[in-house]
Amino acid sequence: MSEEKKKALFICLGNICRSPIAEGVFQKTVNDLKIGDKWEIDSAAIGGWHVGNPPDWRALDTMKNHNVPYNNHCRQITKEDFNYYDYIFGMDEANMKDLNKKAPKDCKAKLLMFGDFDPQGDRIIRDPYYDSDAKGFEKCYQQSVRCSKGFLDHLEKES
Ligand code: 4NP
Repeated sequence: MSEEKKKALFICLGNICRSPIAEGVFQKTVNDLKIGDKWEIDSAAIGGWHVGNPPDWRALDTMKNHNVPYNNHCRQITKEDFNYYDYIFGMDEANMKDLNKKAPKDCKAKLLMFGDFDPQGDRIIRDPYYDSDAKGFEKCYQQSVRCSKGFLDHLEKES
């Protein structure tokens, strides 16, 4: 019997820094655990400024440094996403506010802050876009690794 895939969408303001890293890391985490076939994963932006673009070069460099494959391009979240995905993750409080504002009344997806699954309790995945270096991107990567495992552990306990 084929089980329906679980669907997760990672959101940030621009979809060129944090959510591509979160998407790539979560995909790699499930692939490494040999449960990649059980998941459908994507990322999207709150705002439309970078639609069609690849991620910021610092996000791509960070993923390359950690052997995280990434080939996706920016898109903006749609109304349909809220009833298609099971889980929609924001990176900070502003993302959560925007998601809650955009969500339809009968929203199927659970709107969750990715950082709430960090076992180290570092809740906010800070926007590194305006930084003058790539350190914030590395930090986002490290948080995404912990949160990906933390969320999967949470689902195991729930089931
Ligand atoms: P992200 O970072 O939300 O982590 O992708 C940003 C990228 C672009 C902009 C803001 C945040 N922007 O205003 O263009």
